[in-house]
Amino acid sequence: MAIKNSQTQERGLAVARTVAELRHAIAAFRAAGRTIGLIPTMGALHEGHISLVRGALGRSDVPVTSIFVNPTQFGPNEDFAAYPRDEAGDLAKLEEAGCRLVFAPDKDEMYPGPQLTTVHVSEITDGLCGPLRPGHFDGVATVVTKLLMMAMPERGYFGEKDYQQLQVIKRMARDLAMPIEIVGMPTVRELDGLAMSSRNRYLGAAERATALHLYRQMMAVARAVRDGGASCGAATSDATKALLAAGFDKVEYLTVIDAESLEPVERVSGPARVVAATRLGRTRLIDNIAVD
Ligand code: PAF
Repeated sequence: MAIKNSQTQERGLAVARTVAELRHAIAAFRAAGRTIGLIPTMGALHEGHISLVRGALGRSDVPVTSIFVNPTQFGPNEDFAAYPRDEAGDLAKLEEAGCRLVFAPDKDEMYPGPQLTTVHVSEITDGLCGPLRPGHFDGVATVVTKLLMMAMPERGYFGEKDYQQLQVIKRMARDLAMPIEIVGMPTVRELDGLAMSSRNRYLGAAERATALHLYRQMMAVARAVRDGGASCGAATSDATKALLAAGFDKVEYLTVIDAESLEPVERVSGPARVVAATRLGRTRLIDNIAVD
């Protein structure tokens, strides 16, 4: 049994490696009348993840964080093997932040046999990262469903940094009538505006200096298109050119979308977001901001 501490004591971090241990620990919290907030992560935690734990602490009695680098959401040429892993560092940060329970299963615990069931959310996965990362959102929706079914929290917490992912998970929970509130939390940024991401550690010093242009250009687009001002196509085309001139290797997309349908818009007349996916060296950087 990998549970280190009593599950109902007021402080301290317990680690569950199996679904049985997770359920046992959560049952103890529930018996003490506590509500559960699940924060699914792939580890390599940074301040963005920790802000989810803090946000959960304000709304749920017991924040539970999962750490699992989910192989099914990575494509064959993506960075699954290289994805940063630092369990000891993650546990120290989580304990410091007030997390009470960590679920850190291995692959066989999450996928004990052939997985014949996949959760697929249609339409809102047709654009943006969907076609660029075939199978990615099926992998995310399926593993998040499994994690939610394993922990059965009252709430699940996800960052707005992965805006399309957040909408997919919200829609999935709604369509499948999951009795779980999906809470989106604001993106945490470095002082110069770069969105925090586990993949930022791939950036060399020169790339890191270039990376801040992404936020600046997204802000420029948001300012230009606000209240139906400039055409979204013109503003994003200028910003794309500026990013390539600043040293980005590729702009996979830089678009203004309707905040709910995720469809591109040409003039902003309601809630909208500027969303972007870029390549800088070997690093894929995604980000988004609200137009207002
Ligand atoms: O955002 C992530 O870190 C992952 O996509 C998630 C939600 C933990 C599923 O593996």
